[in-house]
Amino acid sequence: MDYSLNFRDKVAVVTGAASGIGKATAIAFGSLGANVVLVDVNEKNGLEVSKTITNLGVKSLFIKTDTSNEEETERMASIIKKEFGTPHILVNSAGIEFNDRGNLVDMPYDLLKKILDVNLYGYIHCVRALAPLMKEGGSIVNISSIQGLAVHSPGTSYQVSKSGILGLTRALAIELACSNINVNTVAPGAIATEGMGAVRGGESSILDPYRRRIPLKRRGRAEEIAGPILFFCSSLASYITGSVLVVDGGYLINLTPDFGEVIKPVVGDPDL
Ligand SMILES: NC(=O)c1ccc[n+]([C@@H]2O[C@H](COP(=O)([O-])OP(=O)(O)OC[C@H]3O[C@@H](n4cnc5c(N)ncnc54)[C@H](O)[C@@H]3O)[C@@H](O)[C@H]2O)c1
Repeated sequence: MDYSLNFRDKVAVVTGAASGIGKATAIAFGSLGANVVLVDVNEKNGLEVSKTITNLGVKSLFIKTDTSNEEETERMASIIKKEFGTPHILVNSAGIEFNDRGNLVDMPYDLLKKILDVNLYGYIHCVRALAPLMKEGGSIVNISSIQGLAVHSPGTSYQVSKSGILGLTRALAIELACSNINVNTVAPGAIATEGMGAVRGGESSILDPYRRRIPLKRRGRAEEIAGPILFFCSSLASYITGSVLVVDGGYLINLTPDFGEVIKPVVGDPDL
């Protein structure tokens, strides 16, 4: 049993790698020896992240791809096959939300369709294009959300997409088990990222009511999601497939009303 986190000689493909959770994950893989393929629509930021990873001494390639477009994902996979041969890891993180206009009945149809196209079909396209190339086995990690497990309204279409990812993960875990590919989900809570994590405003504005309900009393960092993702792709998780790991500072399990006022610290700084 190898208890180390070492990805030398592995090829990791990360979608949504130009920003936030995908970016932190891509850099983490590079820092632990993996060659990294970055997939995103944002070319400028994607190339910058790729440069950061190359400077770590591993191979890195940015491939501009709209993951909601099947032909583009197939093209991306053929480039990976040519440049790297066999990929070992796929992390699906590319996602969008328009939760401010998120009720199913009110939401303009084009936005509703776009969410499902990116958040659900995007993951499906990438798996269909890349899993057949993962001939040495490996790991797929799909990023869902606590909104795949519970409702925060408005945001119905986003929640449908994020719940769909949980079903997709379970079905793929069975489908790909005989190819020695484990498939798992990470479900983040409120994570401070450049893109989607900024949607609900800064720490001191709309987010305050959220933060008061988070037992760990703060939003998570993108790196704190990258860690669990790397765990699922490591030998430490070799017997885990089809599972979902919630990474939310305790938010989802907390039913305590007025939590911020009710629970006082037993030790330490009360303002922490
Ligand atoms: N930040 C949070 O609080 C949070 C919470 C729960 C789940 N998530 C999930 O984590 C994932 C990453 O979120 P984030 O906060 O890092 O977001 P982010 O906006 O910082 O990064 C998302 C990246 O995806 C890319 N992208 C968007 N559409 C794409 C497409 N069609 N093709 C290719 N790339 C595309 C964007 O360009 C961006 O670089 C998403 O799936 C999101 O639903 C985020």
